[in-house]
Amino acid sequence: MSLKPLNIGMIGYGFMGRAHSNAYAKVNHFFDLKYKPVLKAACARDEAKVKAFAEKWGYESVETDWRKLIARKDIDAIDICTPNNTHAEIAIAAAEAGKMILCEKPLAMNGPEGSKMVEAVERAGVPNIVWYNYRRVPAVTLAKKLIDDGKLGRIFHYRAKFLQDWTINPEVPQGGAGTWRLDVAAAGSGVSGDLLAHCIDTALWLNGDLADVCAMTETFVKERKHAATGQIQKVGIDDACTFMGRFKNGSLASFESTRYARGHKALYTFEINGENASIFWDLHDLHRLQYFDHRDGGLTRGWRSIHVTDGEHPYMANWWVPGLQIGYEHSFVHQVKDFLEGLASGNLAMPTFRDALRTQYVLDAVLESAADQRWHKVTTV
Ligand SMILES: NC(=O)c1ccc[n+]([C@@H]2O[C@H](COP(=O)([O-])OP(=O)(O)OC[C@H]3O[C@@H](n4cnc5c(N)ncnc54)[C@H](O)[C@@H]3O)[C@@H](O)[C@H]2O)c1
Repeated sequence: MSLKPLNIGMIGYGFMGRAHSNAYAKVNHFFDLKYKPVLKAACARDEAKVKAFAEKWGYESVETDWRKLIARKDIDAIDICTPNNTHAEIAIAAAEAGKMILCEKPLAMNGPEGSKMVEAVERAGVPNIVWYNYRRVPAVTLAKKLIDDGKLGRIFHYRAKFLQDWTINPEVPQGGAGTWRLDVAAAGSGVSGDLLAHCIDTALWLNGDLADVCAMTETFVKERKHAATGQIQKVGIDDACTFMGRFKNGSLASFESTRYARGHKALYTFEINGENASIFWDLHDLHRLQYFDHRDGGLTRGWRSIHVTDGEHPYMANWWVPGLQIGYEHSFVHQVKDFLEGLASGNLAMPTFRDALRTQYVLDAVLESAADQRWHKVTTV
């Protein structure tokens, strides 16, 4: 059966531009699908750099203005891999042009901006998804299955952390191509929108909505040089953010993120404690799921480390043989696979823009709470 081409217009050639391009290239090798992504055009502002990227990754053409890319008749889907402050403008224009949209996280700079994006894609009726890729790490997908199967029973606690250490040096600049994440105008926020967004998305997916939150943030380095202008400027992002909260199912939430945890590079962990069982997952050991079941026989009861590589584990039957693990980049391959299957079935893969908007409103409540040091209710989407 011949595959239906899906012409991709990729905007941005950085970290995520590469992760997504790799996923488009691989997905049909490992999964039987009705669609095949075609790397039609790559877009970024620097022509020489985007040409070099296109050549390396096999894109057929380049653009230096995303508006021209969106206007092209031969593009079916726009993939937004640019800094956070560009997502809304590009996504709304792409929706109005009738393009499907795959947008990087966080969806938007804040909830109201994200709401406009949701309205735009729903008005246009275009398929859409946000790249909260950790849902598709097989061990995390397995956690979802265990919870949905009722193995944990009533949930009491959800605890998540995302720890890094790369901005401790006050000489690290803010703004510009390499350090836009430190510039509040480009990023919208600091670790909350960058790192906690992932933790929140996974949590809402696994454990349902958060009702209210109480947060604190800190900006340890108050001024930094701007990479583009060389001027010393006030730092507007949160360097660290800790919040507690209450899920609608009655369980308690505890979240922490920082870029000042010396020794940690990308330590995303979560632990869920239920009445029967607990689950723990760690990005540094991403192919394992730690599971404790109180109902096991007393003498051998203990934490088991499930090597999530068997054919019956989520996504794994399509990779190598049992016992051989996969890694970070495969979560993006799985996201493309699920998106393409959703197109074929008409049942869109999650998280759509509307689903991802829930995370945006949790982030808004977290930042508002940190600002006025009070509990905040999370806006219901
Ligand atoms: N899902 C994940 O795990 C994950 C991981 C990293 C980043 N992200 C998200 O992906 C997005 C991009 O992050 P990144 O790490 O790839 O950044 P990056 O700095 O590596 O790349 C950004 C790219 O955007 C391009 N760009 C910036 N403004 C542009 C414009 N106006 N027009 C065209 N191109 C433009 C830059 O040239 C660059 O190619 C962000 O929203 C970030 O939050 C998600």
